[in-house]
Amino acid sequence: MCGIIGVVQKRGQVAPFLHQALKRLEYRGYDSVGVTTISNNELSMKKDKGKIEEVHVKLNLDDMPGNIGIGHTRWATHGIPSMYNSHPHFDCKNQIAVVHNGVIDNFLELRSELSSKGHEFSSETDTEVIPHMIEEGMAEGHSLVDALKEVTKRIEGTYAIVAMSTQESDKIVCTRDGNPLVIGRKEGASYVSSDIPAFLPMTDDMILLLDGEIAVLSAGGVEIRKLSDDSLVDRETIKISWTADQAEKGGFPHFMLKEIHEQPDAIRNTLRLRFDTIQKAAKMIQEARRVYFLAMGTSGHAALAGRHMFAALSGILPIFELASDFQDIVYGSLSEKDCIVAITQSGETTDTIVSAKYAKSFGTKVLAITNVVGSSITRIADYTVITQAGPEIGVAATKTFMVQLTVLAQIALAASEQTGFLAEYLIEKKRKCLQELPDLVSQVISRNEEIARRLAGELYKRSSLLFLGRGVSIATAEEGALKLKEIAYNHAEAYSAGESKHGPIALVEKGYPVVFVAPRDETRNRIIGNVMEMKARGASIISVLERGDQELGDLSDYSFVVPEGIEPEFSTMPYVVPLQLFSYYMARRKGFDPDKPRNLAKSVTVL
Ligand code: F6R
Repeated sequence: MCGIIGVVQKRGQVAPFLHQALKRLEYRGYDSVGVTTISNNELSMKKDKGKIEEVHVKLNLDDMPGNIGIGHTRWATHGIPSMYNSHPHFDCKNQIAVVHNGVIDNFLELRSELSSKGHEFSSETDTEVIPHMIEEGMAEGHSLVDALKEVTKRIEGTYAIVAMSTQESDKIVCTRDGNPLVIGRKEGASYVSSDIPAFLPMTDDMILLLDGEIAVLSAGGVEIRKLSDDSLVDRETIKISWTADQAEKGGFPHFMLKEIHEQPDAIRNTLRLRFDTIQKAAKMIQEARRVYFLAMGTSGHAALAGRHMFAALSGILPIFELASDFQDIVYGSLSEKDCIVAITQSGETTDTIVSAKYAKSFGTKVLAITNVVGSSITRIADYTVITQAGPEIGVAATKTFMVQLTVLAQIALAASEQTGFLAEYLIEKKRKCLQELPDLVSQVISRNEEIARRLAGELYKRSSLLFLGRGVSIATAEEGALKLKEIAYNHAEAYSAGESKHGPIALVEKGYPVVFVAPRDETRNRIIGNVMEMKARGASIISVLERGDQELGDLSDYSFVVPEGIEPEFSTMPYVVPLQLFSYYMARRKGFDPDKPRNLAKSVTVL
């Protein structure tokens, strides 16, 4: 939620870089954008409501002087999207510029205090109090960094803040508490951003900034101190293995389509994780008294499918809870004997972070599964498994979902070995199937993309669809419905096919589209029964079925086909792919940008 970028370099104009970096961060929010640079001790500012390229066409974001600057792409929390509410925000004299991600809970109180001292505000945002507070601090004789330190003593809430001032025009200062910021370094330049891809074309050397730390960036280096005691932090540089190309569209019209096509490689890379990493994670789960899977959105669907994998493969049945509701459901019934598995591709989802911290307060073990090295969840967790999807830019999660499932499958099999639940030859058979998955998913993409495009052409006028499955396929159906909702704005509801006759069937009338996720597993015959019930009421049947399933094919008006030979516990991986493609083509057919769905942001850092 909100993308931040800052750069200070020895020489050369920073504005074109800031513009490109903001484009790489646009998935974090895209209702308005702004950039500020400093040249000859004067601030230049361009900002407006709208997506980056719309604002660039109007204002030319590349044409700004200066070798130091900050930029922001916004996902509104306080104040409607407008030019005035766009970041950066400034002090009264236009000498201090600030960008912020997060929410300042006590901003009204601070704002009225500052107003009574004569400060004038030009926006409705919570952020604007920060430059005015820095202005107060600098007027009292503090340096820019000390003035920001003073600000952190007064503000309540969550934040990542980046600031600069014409009075100290060779540096950028930044601090965080609860919202991400990473620092990039190379000879003659320093970068700070909400996410790594923003500066990846310039450097793959990253330094983490942790909550409660403050950093001063100059062209020559970075100094990090702890806010609590002002002590210097000596933090090593981390080499990022992602390449800049991975964060570009590479010939695809959208990131989402590119990322759907990258799924075979993402699975392949995740299957190469060290076995002792997987074993250690399995041990944490297997030794726990109770295991909770916590996640939100698509990661929640991976958790649901993962729960099924664990029950079927290792005899352990984890409890799945949405992270947002965890505290209100467990009511302190946790102990140090329990383990929570926090699944979050970004590692920054506030609901998941807050639940993990809550669990830790009882001594409960935290195992994290995330795609982002150094993200907030990795610093809370007792142990972390990093999935290998590479950067995911499309707001709708696809390949990160696939690798979460891959890791859960690997851990479930390792847990099975530890519990002795399955015979060794069965574990080997299932491992072999995992190794074949990249090729299988590749086939699913190539066989179903055209079908998805055509089906979107037939169904794009339909406003509502039902997605049904049984067993592990409920998670697949849920994910299919979520994708369609979030990027094509259809009313799409997922249900257990068994539950569908207890209410949802009332929605069905002639031509109403019902999508069945129907692998040939032990649920299939019951699914056929549900298909018949829906058909009898005039529904139009769309099936995701196994190649050669003639009976179901004949009952269906449209079919997506998945090759045979998949182990039932892993069916979500290939069976979700046609649904991802269908949502993508529905969004396109309806004229929506699948990479930038309205009202959404990739990383949800508010409760
Ligand atoms: C859906 C989607 C969201 C996220 C959810 C959790 O396509 O991307 O539903 O899955 O916001 O995000 P992470 O996995 O980063 O915790």
